[in-house]
Amino acid sequence: MPYPIIPFSRCGRRRCLVEAECTVSGGYAKIPYFVEDRSNDAELIRLLFQDTLLTTGMGGPLSEQPDPSSLHRVLDIGCGPGGWILEAADRYHHMSLTGIDISWRMIEYARAQAQSRGLTDGVEFLVMDALHPLKFPDASFDLVNLRLGSSFLLVTDWPRLLDELLRVTRPGGIVRVTDYVTIQSTSPAYNRIIKMGLCALYRSGHSLTEEQTGVTHELDRLLSERGCKPVQTRDATLEFIAGTVGGQHLYEDILTQDLGYVFGHSFVADKQAL
Ligand SMILES: C[S@@+](CC[C@H](N)C(=O)[O-])C[C@H]1O[C@@H](n2cnc3c(N)ncnc32)[C@H](O)[C@@H]1O
Repeated sequence: MPYPIIPFSRCGRRRCLVEAECTVSGGYAKIPYFVEDRSNDAELIRLLFQDTLLTTGMGGPLSEQPDPSSLHRVLDIGCGPGGWILEAADRYHHMSLTGIDISWRMIEYARAQAQSRGLTDGVEFLVMDALHPLKFPDASFDLVNLRLGSSFLLVTDWPRLLDELLRVTRPGGIVRVTDYVTIQSTSPAYNRIIKMGLCALYRSGHSLTEEQTGVTHELDRLLSERGCKPVQTRDATLEFIAGTVGGQHLYEDILTQDLGYVFGHSFVADKQAL
């Protein structure tokens, strides 16, 4: 088959977050879910923290790749404020990197960051809705990255998006998918928040189960069914310990989220108890 695939990493101790918004007849129909206002600066800052936690915790943007020098054209789907792309641009000067996100605010910020860090050469950020056909020709990229796609994809969106990712990936290229598997904490308040989050994800159609496996355990099958060969998986366990920088970032990540309207007062009370 034409497409070898996937260092597919699993992030432990992470929550899945964020919003869902879809374009309908040229306008926006908001699906009330998690972060309501995606152009909110607090959300942008939270995503910056989250990016650092994940990229550092996983050993770098492409730490599992045996030969990043063979990857020239790279696409990041739902790139947020651009942290993953900019980290890759810093490390791999030969790459041409494109980040897409539905949010103007995220893209605007990512472009400004690229500018201020002198990383404009070979780096571009575009506003694009990944739930619509991607505006790239077939086989445009050597590697396509999707991290925390479950934050905005309904379970029913995955097959179509994976088809689209395969279309824009060149034969022999790589589709790289990272999502959460399990989240455990010694904090009872945090565990209650996670439980409510998983329940909300399930009830809103973002997860196949209320258990902590989300959609991750299904991705292997979904990719194999599409002819991806080989499908490779890698577990990355991320630890956030109170009193460390990572622990503080996670704490701020939770506090920054304005999720009370989804989970109700109990969630807000638990946030205060953290
Ligand atoms: C949880 S963040 C993940 C950001 C980044 N991938 C990371 O791992 O750091 C989800 C991102 O997806 C974006 N997003 C949500 N719906 C989208 C869509 N339909 N198309 C493209 N991006 C979308 C959001 O604006 C947000 O920046």
